[in-house]
Amino acid sequence: MKLASCSKTYGRRTVLRCPALDFAPGRICALAGPNGSGKSTYARLAAGVLTPDGGGRVADETGVIRYMPQKSFPFRMSVEDNIRLFGGDEQRAEELMKALGLGGLRRQRARSLSGGETARMSLARVLMQPCDLLILDEPTAAMDMESAIAAEKLVDDYRKECGCAVLLVTHDLSQARRMADEALFFYQGELWESGAAETVLYRPEKEETRRFLEFYGGR
Ligand SMILES: Nc1ncnc2c1ncn2[C@@H]1O[C@H](COP(=O)(O)OP(=O)(O)OP(=O)(O)O)[C@@H](O)[C@H]1O
Ligand SMILES: [Mg+2]
Repeated sequence: MKLASCSKTYGRRTVLRCPALDFAPGRICALAGPNGSGKSTYARLAAGVLTPDGGGRVADETGVIRYMPQKSFPFRMSVEDNIRLFGGDEQRAEELMKALGLGGLRRQRARSLSGGETARMSLARVLMQPCDLLILDEPTAAMDMESAIAAEKLVDDYRKECGCAVLLVTHDLSQARRMADEALFFYQGELWESGAAETVLYRPEKEETRRFLEFYGGR
């Protein structure tokens, strides 16, 4: 899916400037970068929940976009009702609850869930129906290892089944390396580096990207 170039300014500070990008069907693109580099801002602009400078939309109007925000939002209802809130059939809900260990929590009030449980519920909700572009903002940051492994498999299966493009915002370098075909690196609100995952996540060109990778356990 093609996303237009965009920028976002708050007051006198432009927090993001990004050129046009094309997210290819069936491919996972990781988006990495330090805190405040504009990753969530970009995810929100792409998802259409934030308006870019100058108005309009960043994504073209034709494709379906599904978006899991960095801060998951639990609606005031049960876990199961939250998962089924935007549609999708019962069998899919069962499948997702089972894979994410939510079966025993299905009748619990969503607002009483722990952070990791809330993230699992939010991921299940976003994977209920197919889309053209799946945007996940730090989906596993609050999850334990077992849940994160299940989440990675679900996302990978989902993208294979529906052939969607995936934009995966993640701080987890090992996750990015396991999952991504392409990678973007944001630095101080700019797209600093982009390309094949094996280049950006292993042999980046820029010093800032190298420092980021070293800190997160890369070479
Ligand atoms: N509503 C707002 N008003 C003013 N500044 C904002 C607003 N929303 C975001 N910002 C600023 O924009 C910058 C980019 O924020 P963003 O949430 O995109 O960062 P991020 O790369 O997702 O960081 P993190 O790794 O911490 O999630 C930050 O410096 C943030 O303080
Ligand atoms: Mg963020």
